[in-house]
Amino acid sequence: MAEVSYVKASRIFSGNPPVRAVDELSLDVSDGEFLVLVGPSGSGKSTALRMLAGLEDVDEGAIHIGGKDVTNVPPKGRDIAMVFQSYALYPHMTVAENMGFALKLRGVNKAEIKEKVAEAARMLDLEKYLDRKPKALSGGQRQRVAMGRAIVREPSVFLMDEPLSNLDAKLRVETRANIAALQARLGTTTIYVTHDQVEAMTMGHRVAVLKDGLLQQCDTPRALYDKPANAFVAGFMGSPAMNLKTVPLTSEGAKLDGLVVPLERRMMDKVAAEGLSTVTFGIRPESLALVSSSEQGMDMTVELVEELGADALMHGSIRIGDTPERFVVRVDGRTPPTLGQTVKIAVRDASEIHLFHPESGNRLTD
Ligand SMILES: Nc1ncnc2c1ncn2[C@@H]1O[C@H](COP(=O)(O)OP(=O)(O)OP(=O)(O)O)[C@@H](O)[C@H]1O
Ligand SMILES: [Mg+2]
Repeated sequence: MAEVSYVKASRIFSGNPPVRAVDELSLDVSDGEFLVLVGPSGSGKSTALRMLAGLEDVDEGAIHIGGKDVTNVPPKGRDIAMVFQSYALYPHMTVAENMGFALKLRGVNKAEIKEKVAEAARMLDLEKYLDRKPKALSGGQRQRVAMGRAIVREPSVFLMDEPLSNLDAKLRVETRANIAALQARLGTTTIYVTHDQVEAMTMGHRVAVLKDGLLQQCDTPRALYDKPANAFVAGFMGSPAMNLKTVPLTSEGAKLDGLVVPLERRMMDKVAAEGLSTVTFGIRPESLALVSSSEQGMDMTVELVEELGADALMHGSIRIGDTPERFVVRVDGRTPPTLGQTVKIAVRDASEIHLFHPESGNRLTD
């Protein structure tokens, strides 16, 4: 078991201009932690993981595992095990042989390999399949064999790159819970890459959000959701995404649809200190609510209703200045509004408003 540190680590691919696929990444992962790296496609997640595995050069900075600088140590010397998106199982070997292969290469004796494989198979519910070849397994079973192969090596760090992306939606949900439970049981430091923010939120002790090779924020799922450091993180974490719109400011608050949404004092002080006349206004779909026509609110024309059972997502337009802007509101699933209807919506609580700098996107409130 080990802690992991990226120390201003960069990977720069040649080209014109060169691509800083991972740009001065600094990140400390503690011993036993489950850290998720999340970000859109091309944000540098796989590159960051491969740098840790020793499969990609570190062009600047350093990487430490267990307090030791491993920047120039080859993959074999790093005591890590990686699970890829394509499980890369050996087709001609049985499940048991696949799982035990790394130990065999290491010269571990047969009895010990058998015992370790049996133990991993028990944990992963694979005991029935030990004599089968990979082609005779379902996608979920293959995924578990790939996990088993990593587990038997008892590495100090697990690295996983989108290990669930080949599974169907239901199996993904099941398997993500199993992986999280297994990690908790083994207590092995794990770095897990996904582009799926739901996976990130549900699995990670902490989540590191990457964009264009740059670390945006690393914190607990709760903190990322409640206090996104910038408009990018605010828009990326959460499903459906936070409503984010640049709106004019008045002396009382933010102007939407001819209505001034009052802002808390601390928020007004902050925008005044920054000398802003507009602000990026963020509100999550569940922080907006339908109100009766006699109450103060913003008019919204309903353009789409997605019924999810317990609740429904109402999509529609609210005017900001002269332009209709799309908003999503989470409403009660039993009495959703109908298409084309004009409804009135209001902010549930001013403390749930997020404000970001209109240019830098940085969070303005703490
Ligand atoms: N060998 C390479 N040569 C040049 N550029 C590369 C190379 N590998 C990756 N890149 C670039 O580096 C950036 C980061 O790629 P990376 O594969 O790390 O992204 P990712 O976040 O894992 O994306 P995805 O979610 O699609 O897997 C991308 O712009 C990619 O085009
Ligand atoms: Mg990738």
